[in-house]
Amino acid sequence: MLARQTPIDHAAALRGLSATQDAAYLAAARRILVDMVGDPDLLAQASIERAARAYTRNVLFGDDRHTVYAIAWAPGSSTSIHDHHCSCCFGMASGALQEDWFEALDGDRARLVRTRTRRPGEVACMLPGGPNLHRMANVSDREAISIHIYGFNARARTTSIHREYAAADQHTLRV
Ligand SMILES: [Fe+2]
Repeated sequence: MLARQTPIDHAAALRGLSATQDAAYLAAARRILVDMVGDPDLLAQASIERAARAYTRNVLFGDDRHTVYAIAWAPGSSTSIHDHHCSCCFGMASGALQEDWFEALDGDRARLVRTRTRRPGEVACMLPGGPNLHRMANVSDREAISIHIYGFNARARTTSIHREYAAADQHTLRV
């Protein structure tokens, strides 16, 4: 049996992430997230708020460049269709989420182009230059928890979302 490698000091690793959001940044953020979602103690020690039919964002870490949330997704909860003004990396800690990818038709509407189920241990990263127009939803009957590293300071700006869109096809969310 393989011994678990020496755990990463997450706060130190997050403080060490560069402000330049490029491919090297995404690779470093990915390594941190892989370790975070594989750490059974991380969420056990965190204070996670929950809502009956919504998702809740819980700050795990923040500095002037990055904000890390644990997001608890109640069954049936969903984001809007949106993109981000900053980098967005996330990993699945428990449960499963449906991630739908969209293509903008104009400044207000978008059409579905791809759907993927994100499962525990899976990590995804994207830069603000796109393509990063997506929606995340818990279409299962169990809670899901994901951990997100955003390249923005939540104390200076309220949201990582750049713009929201309406679905050109209203039947694309399989709740
Ligand atoms: Fe997003």
